[in-house]
Amino acid sequence: LTKSVTVSAPGKIILTGEHFVVHGSYAVAAAINKRVRVTVSESKENHSSIVSSGLSSKLDSNDEKFPATKAVIRQVQKELGHLSEPLEVRIESEIPAGSGLGSSAAVSIACTAALTRFVGSTIDPQFVSRIAMMGEKKVHGNPSGIDVEASLRGGVIMFSRKDGVKTIQTKDAIQLIVIYSGKKRSTSRLIAEVARRKRSYPNFFQLLADSASYQSREVVDALKDGDLQRLGWLFNIAQTELDWIGVSTPFIDKLIERISIGSFGAKITGAGGGGSIIVAAKPDAISTIINSISEEYPQTFITSIPQEGLRWE
Ligand code: MEV
Repeated sequence: LTKSVTVSAPGKIILTGEHFVVHGSYAVAAAINKRVRVTVSESKENHSSIVSSGLSSKLDSNDEKFPATKAVIRQVQKELGHLSEPLEVRIESEIPAGSGLGSSAAVSIACTAALTRFVGSTIDPQFVSRIAMMGEKKVHGNPSGIDVEASLRGGVIMFSRKDGVKTIQTKDAIQLIVIYSGKKRSTSRLIAEVARRKRSYPNFFQLLADSASYQSREVVDALKDGDLQRLGWLFNIAQTELDWIGVSTPFIDKLIERISIGSFGAKITGAGGGGSIIVAAKPDAISTIINSISEEYPQTFITSIPQEGLRWE
């Protein structure tokens, strides 16, 4: 019998505070109903490998594939030892890569947890998020850590670099529309672009960063009250600020304009520059909005929040 362990971790949306959170602001994120499954098993080959949607790479090869996952596996091997036998790490993802929906963080979280369980160690959330962050740093440059915490813990979280993560209890589940524009982008490039703007306009940037923290507290209140209208209004303010710091695009602006009838508000979620938007809408307008765009944007879906974080399969 081949020993094998499978775990899954969700993608995420950021409701408010993306980018500013890298510079110390508070941000709010939630896990979504799209997940990554990672299965670790003994390999039949004499080397360890990573396999995902038709691609595969040997752990010790120097090709460009799976840099984050390789970093995670090597770190777990280093810290937990007894992972010397050849392994196969299989990744199956429902989250499009480069969509702003946290696929890389979910892969790193699920991978760390699966490997930890494979060697029979107990799962310490702090260990899992610390190792997953090493994977994130490989691909995102200077990540805040919000993506890995949202994926690990699930639910809704408030996060800042200073205070770390706090779980937010919401009264009722709410539904949001998520639209992936189909335009992939690089998080590290966008983070670097925002840092450049901060250097050019430090005082103005600080005002926006403070405003993002304020919006995050307001978003938490709106979620606690289940107030979609207020949430939408906050999304619109956040979108304006994200546009000012250069992470929206004319294409995204047009998409938001298109779904404005029936929606309370919409914004980029995650790094921007394309990627995905989230929409707060009247519950009875959701299907009309989706029908009006689903042909052009087939990767449109509804997520309810909260959702479960890391789990065993
Ligand atoms: C990416 O999902 C969110 C950013 O704020 C980057 C980060 O916080 O690591 C753009």
